[in-house]
Amino acid sequence: MANSDLMDKLVSLSKRRGYIFQSSEIYGGTGSVWDYGPLGVELKRNIKDRWWSAMVRRRDDVEGLDTSILMHPSVWEASGHVAAFTDPLVECTNCHRRFRADLPEVEGGQCPTCGTKDTFTEPRLFNLMFKTFMGPVEDSSATIYLRPETAQGTYVNFLNVQGAARQRVPFGIAQIGKAFRNEITPGNFIFRTREFEQAEMQFFVKPGTDEEWFDRWMETRMQWHVDLGIRPEKLRFQEHGPDELAHYAKKAFDIEYEFPFGWKEFEGIHNRTDFDLTRHQEHSGKRLEYIDPGSNERFVPYVVETAMGVDRTLLVVLVDAYREEEIQGETRVVLGLHPSLAPTKAAVFPLVKKDGMPEAAHKIKDALRAAAIPAFYDQSGAIGRRYRRQDEVGTPWCITVDGETAENDSVTIRDRDSLEQVRIGTDQVVGWIRERLD
Ligand code: GAP
Repeated sequence: MANSDLMDKLVSLSKRRGYIFQSSEIYGGTGSVWDYGPLGVELKRNIKDRWWSAMVRRRDDVEGLDTSILMHPSVWEASGHVAAFTDPLVECTNCHRRFRADLPEVEGGQCPTCGTKDTFTEPRLFNLMFKTFMGPVEDSSATIYLRPETAQGTYVNFLNVQGAARQRVPFGIAQIGKAFRNEITPGNFIFRTREFEQAEMQFFVKPGTDEEWFDRWMETRMQWHVDLGIRPEKLRFQEHGPDELAHYAKKAFDIEYEFPFGWKEFEGIHNRTDFDLTRHQEHSGKRLEYIDPGSNERFVPYVVETAMGVDRTLLVVLVDAYREEEIQGETRVVLGLHPSLAPTKAAVFPLVKKDGMPEAAHKIKDALRAAAIPAFYDQSGAIGRRYRRQDEVGTPWCITVDGETAENDSVTIRDRDSLEQVRIGTDQVVGWIRERLD
């Protein structure tokens, strides 16, 4: 399958089956923001839940936090985003479209839209932060920004969290939340958008131990993606060169995935040193030091950050899971999602719409739902078509009520990937699925 075909197929499947819709589609839509449908919202929530569980719930050295999107404007002066969170922008004087100056076609001098050569203006720096006004007066004193990263909400709360949770350095603070960037060229479906979600963790360490923690977090985060079921050969680290480093970073590694449009970053591990806390001390006039309770030593901690895009990770999960297979001369589309990520865990079918089979199937579906296992009932169409519809959205197990069910209270469970079927007692279904999910 050609790579561009794969993206087209994913966009179409996502819309048709309720994973992802274009925002405001009835008005012509926009290419830069997307909405998650009934299956998409479950997949996204499952990714975030796994992250939260691994990063917060299963660790005693990371605390959770949820900070506001709108913050005091001085935060962004201090963080360096007002001065330095920019992309170089050029305009084509022929078609008046604007592009990032560092796009390969643009660097080659050719307009990606109208194709003319050497019609670009000189690059100017364009700040990616969205601006709005706080309160009823729209003047410059009321200007505030939509946060372009969640990290700053964590830095300004560093001492609040440390004191309240009685944590000792080294420890981390994690949060998941929306971020906004007025990207010059959004695109590739949900890969680069203007509104997106981040799952970020700031780990505060004693200066001098930062390199060691950096290595540990690199390894931990890569393993997390492998545990999601992503093919390891499609994952790699890529170090930022000196001219690629963000204004706050001393060292940075991206975790990249080989998308149909090339190797691209979807998580960054950054050594932010004491840059952010020191700048907030200077701008706020408040001390952001840690006092070691054992030695009474005072210092501004260094920060090792893990910054994952939730939407980009979801795209990685979808791209990696999508496959087409020939089975008995027929093509089936499968989303081979890790069961813990699959939006629907089980579909329940009556083989035919009579002989008490629909009632028995409904009962199983209700028992699964009562156990908080998302299950779906479907009685329409041939059984083969019902299987295919579930394969396409990634449902790991299909349960069929058939003629034997009334005789000996048993059903078949079909595995999405191996296509193997096992027969088990109706009253064992919930336990059988729960065991595999756990
Ligand atoms: N706090 C550090 C930080 O924000 P980043 O590398 O700029 O670092 C982290 O962003 C992650 O956020 C990226 O790896 C990516 O997954 C996601 N991200 C950034 N910009 C994005 C955009 N325009 N659309 C979707 N995801 C984006």
